[in-house]
Amino acid sequence: MRPKSWSFAATLLLSAGVAGYAVWIYGSGDPQRAPVHPAMVAVFNAHRALITTHAVAASLALLLGPFQFLDRLRAARPRLHRTLGYLYLVPGVAVGGITGLLLSRYSFGGLVSHLGFGLLAVLWLFTGVMAVVAAKARRFADHRVWMIRNFALTFAAVTLRVYLPLGFASGLRFEDFYPAVAWLCWVPNLVFAEWWMLRPRAA
Ligand code: HEM
Repeated sequence: MRPKSWSFAATLLLSAGVAGYAVWIYGSGDPQRAPVHPAMVAVFNAHRALITTHAVAASLALLLGPFQFLDRLRAARPRLHRTLGYLYLVPGVAVGGITGLLLSRYSFGGLVSHLGFGLLAVLWLFTGVMAVVAAKARRFADHRVWMIRNFALTFAAVTLRVYLPLGFASGLRFEDFYPAVAWLCWVPNLVFAEWWMLRPRAA
């Protein structure tokens, strides 16, 4: 496999794993069996429609996102790229982002978590809007840049679930490391995306 195929396969596998988990646990509308802190289960129980809509919509974005970066698919099937793009952005990012923003005020870990998840939601929505505006104006290089930023934020769902076991392994209490995870799950992703686009080979 070529390096591009490897990165596509790895991204898709990780995305599908996290999306599958989210739909499996929350898709039924009963978050009772969620393997999270009891205080989070209580919040999700009180906001069942919100967490179910969020988990399903955001999972759609996570699943579709990797396909949008396949150059060959985009070149061979431009209409499919556009259809998947709208599904990614509207029922995916827009619905997932608005519900994520609403959930951020109930997130576990106090103000630091509320701000971390809240800013993630705002940037997720903003980069999605910028990507559409650029595509409509036929500025496709800009469209690609905004979509890379947007998917780096979508991928926070995966990186969050990488940091959680690391947090547990650190020996810290969940309530002490979770607020940091609310920022760590997306800030390094955005920094990585900017580096990826600026690296000499990308020019
Ligand atoms: C990128 C923007 C996103 C934002 C702003 C966001 C926001 C949130 C917030 C605030 C919570 C509640 C956390 C708490 O109570 O402490 C949450 C939980 C959750 N989110 Fe998201 N989220 C985003 C992306 C995603 C994606 C792409 C998925 C796809 C799988 C996802 C799936 C979930 C699930 C399953 C939960 C329940 C907690 C768990 O089981 O781990 N989120 N999200």
